[in-house]
Amino acid sequence: MISNQAGNINTMSHRPSATCPGETPVRAVKLAKVFGANIAVDSLDLEIRTGEVLGFLGPNGAGKTTAINMILGLLQPTSGHVELFGEKADWTQSEMRKRIGALLDGVELYPYLSAKENLQVFRRALGGIPERRIGEVLETVDLTSRANDRVSGFSQGMKRRLGLALSLLPDPDILILDEPANGLDPEGIKDLRDLLKGLARRGKGVFLSSHLLHEVEIICDRVVILRKGKVIAQGKVTELITETPKIELAVERPGEAEKIILAKPEVSSVSRNGNRLLVQYNSSTTDVSGTSGSLKGLDNYQRLAQQLNEDLASHGVFVHELIPHRGNLEEVFFDVVKEVK
Ligand SMILES: Nc1ncnc2c1ncn2[C@@H]1O[C@H](COP(=O)(O)OP(=O)(O)OP(=O)(O)O)[C@@H](O)[C@H]1O
Ligand SMILES: [Mg+2]
Repeated sequence: MISNQAGNINTMSHRPSATCPGETPVRAVKLAKVFGANIAVDSLDLEIRTGEVLGFLGPNGAGKTTAINMILGLLQPTSGHVELFGEKADWTQSEMRKRIGALLDGVELYPYLSAKENLQVFRRALGGIPERRIGEVLETVDLTSRANDRVSGFSQGMKRRLGLALSLLPDPDILILDEPANGLDPEGIKDLRDLLKGLARRGKGVFLSSHLLHEVEIICDRVVILRKGKVIAQGKVTELITETPKIELAVERPGEAEKIILAKPEVSSVSRNGNRLLVQYNSSTTDVSGTSGSLKGLDNYQRLAQQLNEDLASHGVFVHELIPHRGNLEEVFFDVVKEVK
């Protein structure tokens, strides 16, 4: 019986990061990978900083796992390189390996060994890790009560938790995770969120690929969005959301209003629901006044809303209501993926 499936992944008091927040211990420089005629990763520049969670997004086949494998030295890049802690990556150095923890898609576990024995094998292989870390990481991922059970009897989520424990064993400064929430139940996902945010608060750097856009929006400080191997958007989550402005309005004659709005060059699309319209602007729409300088956030919304109101009024279309529409990461994702298709 699985008795501890839905337990908490606890945050614990690990040692603080050996690096300072805001440093860039991992840097991918013009990283590329070509498989035959397929460019899986195309000149990728990426920085994993301490003290923050960086999300790596992209549709299936975008190149996320390939990029992660190259960053971790598991796959030879076709061109470009990776810098770790200011030096060209050298994975033969065991100290370097200990400073970067990874949880990959298919975690290799010994099925006939217990959770604790799996951790022991890993601890010996890495060397220099105190015995007490095993108890600590089991506690962190809430597998203490299953420590002596064989992994072959574990659920997928429990294996994922154990994989996470393995990656945390050397108390790394940087944690790289490829779809870490796979197989976790809703409580496990929430616990993972708390754990990763807690690690970043303590000065660690976290890099994770995920398709769970809502989770990424909550957890991540910054995101990089990849498509067909290329970065198509990146930045702070909050800024990406406000930089693709949308305005919702209720109008008297929606059909006519839609035509007037669609004729504006800065508008990328309009969707209609009854007498309500949702106007989406091009992501580069930062200033509608034609003057230099950019307007961000609320200023930008107000400017766009005012302009919209004036345009419709000049055509005799009365606007009942006009409100900025706060988007979310999912909308940003679909917008940018659609824009560059
Ligand atoms: N070993 C390989 N040999 C040949 N092609 C590969 C290999 N690994 C990946 N690819 C190709 O590289 C591209 C990127 O794959 P990758 O697994 O990195 O995508 P991903 O973004 O991780 O996708 P997903 O979201 O499905 O995990 C795909 O077109 C894939 O078919
Ligand atoms: Mg992948």
